[in-house]
Amino acid sequence: MTDNTAAIIVHEHTRQFHLTNGRISYVFHADGQGKLINLYFGAAVPDREDFSYLTEVTHSPTTTCRIPGNLTYTLERMRQEFPEYGGGDYRRPALEVRQGNGSTLTDLTYAGGYRIIAGKPRLAGLPATYVEHDDEATTLEIELIDRPTGLTVILQYTIFRDQPVIARSVRITNGGGEPVSLERVMSLNLDLPDRNYTMTEFAGAWARERHPHTQPLHYGVQQIESLRNASGHFLNPCAVFARPATTESQGEAIGVAFEYSGNFDLHAEVDTFDVTRVQVGINDFGFSWRLAPGETFQSPEALLAFSAEGLTGLSHAFHRTVLEHIVRGPWKRRERPVLINNWEATYFDFNEDRLVDIARTARNAGIELFVLDDGWFGARNDDTAGLGDWRPNPRRLPNGLASLARRVNDLGMRFGLWFEPEAVNADSDLYRAHPDWAIRTPHRKPSHGRNEYLLNFADAAVVDNIFEQMSALLGSANISYIKWDMNRFVSEGYDLSRDAEHQGEAYHRYILGVYDLLERLLTAFPELIIEGCASGGGRFDMGMLFYTPQIWCSDDSDAIERLKIQYGTSMFYPLSTMGAHVSITPNHQTMRSAPLATRANVAAFGTFGYELDLGRLSDAELDEVHRQVAWFKRYREILHTGDFHRLIAPYGNEKAAWMVVSRDRHTAIVGDYRLLITPNGAFTRLALRGLDAGLTYKVDCTGASSIAGRSFTGAELMRIGLVDSDASCGQMDDVNPLGVTTDFSSRLFVLTAD
Ligand code: DGJ
Repeated sequence: MTDNTAAIIVHEHTRQFHLTNGRISYVFHADGQGKLINLYFGAAVPDREDFSYLTEVTHSPTTTCRIPGNLTYTLERMRQEFPEYGGGDYRRPALEVRQGNGSTLTDLTYAGGYRIIAGKPRLAGLPATYVEHDDEATTLEIELIDRPTGLTVILQYTIFRDQPVIARSVRITNGGGEPVSLERVMSLNLDLPDRNYTMTEFAGAWARERHPHTQPLHYGVQQIESLRNASGHFLNPCAVFARPATTESQGEAIGVAFEYSGNFDLHAEVDTFDVTRVQVGINDFGFSWRLAPGETFQSPEALLAFSAEGLTGLSHAFHRTVLEHIVRGPWKRRERPVLINNWEATYFDFNEDRLVDIARTARNAGIELFVLDDGWFGARNDDTAGLGDWRPNPRRLPNGLASLARRVNDLGMRFGLWFEPEAVNADSDLYRAHPDWAIRTPHRKPSHGRNEYLLNFADAAVVDNIFEQMSALLGSANISYIKWDMNRFVSEGYDLSRDAEHQGEAYHRYILGVYDLLERLLTAFPELIIEGCASGGGRFDMGMLFYTPQIWCSDDSDAIERLKIQYGTSMFYPLSTMGAHVSITPNHQTMRSAPLATRANVAAFGTFGYELDLGRLSDAELDEVHRQVAWFKRYREILHTGDFHRLIAPYGNEKAAWMVVSRDRHTAIVGDYRLLITPNGAFTRLALRGLDAGLTYKVDCTGASSIAGRSFTGAELMRIGLVDSDASCGQMDDVNPLGVTTDFSSRLFVLTAD
């Protein structure tokens, strides 16, 4: 197999499929019973006609056997591609279909139907990876049939040419004469031959999203999920399965990421024979989907990646997949504007002149985009009213939006606007006109969150109305950007637009409605940048990134907390997706005061912006902001397209560090953060990564450093390390020669190859 080809090798004789691109191999076959059996997933291996020796059989007492007279063929011991329950496999199935007679039993078999497609077909109505040219990927669709029901299941696999990544999804068609109900459809099933893995999940809450937590796999099921109909703050729909000895730079790791924004289930089940079954899909809790004869259901897509170069290799695979195959439109390749957002500057206390003052000060500092956050619409004076009425609030903006947008544009800045399209306040004209558009269950009391209700986005009439309101507004003023917020999770879930037998579809249809509105807005306004947000990072997932190339990472804008949030987020998501702002001190979430430099030095590793009233800063601070913005603009292309390396984790350490290396490895930017001072501490060196060992790099530093201005080879910087001692001596009157004397201080090093 040559490198840089996404090949799918089919051996008709052995009914074997080998997906490979020179970096990974994924092999499965259809066995004599027509079952699809996984043979291998991992680092690339040379092809052979028959890998079936990797399926061993033996007689195991108490197992349930499929072939009369044969005691060795049992599905319980088979590593399957798309397992079902009821035929002797007692693990969690990938599919459950309730039929007219009440049974959920199916027996899918392969009868020789498959097709290979150059490139990657789109998934109707869903976010999915894509290619710009057909030679970037190859897709296999393989057909399984359940004869008694006439159900056809197409397993879809795409292997990318340049990445160790496979995209998986499932399409189900009811080819029988009776309706059936899909009760469980996993997008991806992967049976691994042993259990010697750790599982890392990315957990948290509002204001502390996506901290990594790692545990060894144990017997039984270990699961992460969401039942909020959003991916949520608590558990991100991604996980890493790594060998116990795997580090950032070495060892094997498998990553699974779900491109979906609603209820998910991602779990690993270790069975009695030490096989690990990994599954991800729509959470089956409360889910069912009625499939009438002739109808088709398309599952969301899941991504599977393999790295033999540690966690960093895995991150790079996902980052590049996001940058090349998920983020789309004109902003895929354009530099993202530095923005100022008025939320933490004013909250609800603003008028047109105050906003223009903030914008003007920001423009003077080099900031490119002014974003007007919550409070500009309807009768909104606080968070009890106005959601759903997407027209300017006459009390705050008596001259309308076009006037404000023009004044901001006249300063030479772009203008952006906040929406919460899925939400409605009871105190709104929309709710008064259409109370049945708010989600509630008949005869039950609806619960609110932040005084608001969610609109039933499963109902096309609701989505149409919000599209019409938003598009009228976007057409009425020069608006370049929208922030798409969502500040509560669903409760009393029900779809008032459909009858009882379709209620299991309500949550998924809601998410399809959200995707539909996003798609329609992008089609109507292709130049728009949409930044995702859900009370901060409550819906930070691969699905949203298909529509919103950047997502507000967290409502916690404290630099030290942000180190933890952005560090964890970086496992799957590239820096250009992470909304990160410099805010005021004391910080509004933690009351912590980190230096202005550190606030910028953390936000620079994201889509950089400011969220404070710059007019409250001193002249010296404004000069500093000016320099920060200029610095970021100079390096943003490298920061957003380069390779990110995590160096020192911020959890439980007194230091943290990370770096970005440009694709050509000629420039690197190191973020070096002191969390808490160690009195009379050790001299320290920071081992860098990803540089070219043979190049010589000149070191510049945004703060004080004993090595600034000197040059070192990449080999020295990676093997000996960058000298980054802060040498605090704990005596307040001493002048620290390195200038790093306070808690929460930081420096950025820029390394430039000669
Ligand atoms: C939650 C968001 O995360 C904040 O950034 C801000 O937009 C508020 N909502 C506004 O209500």
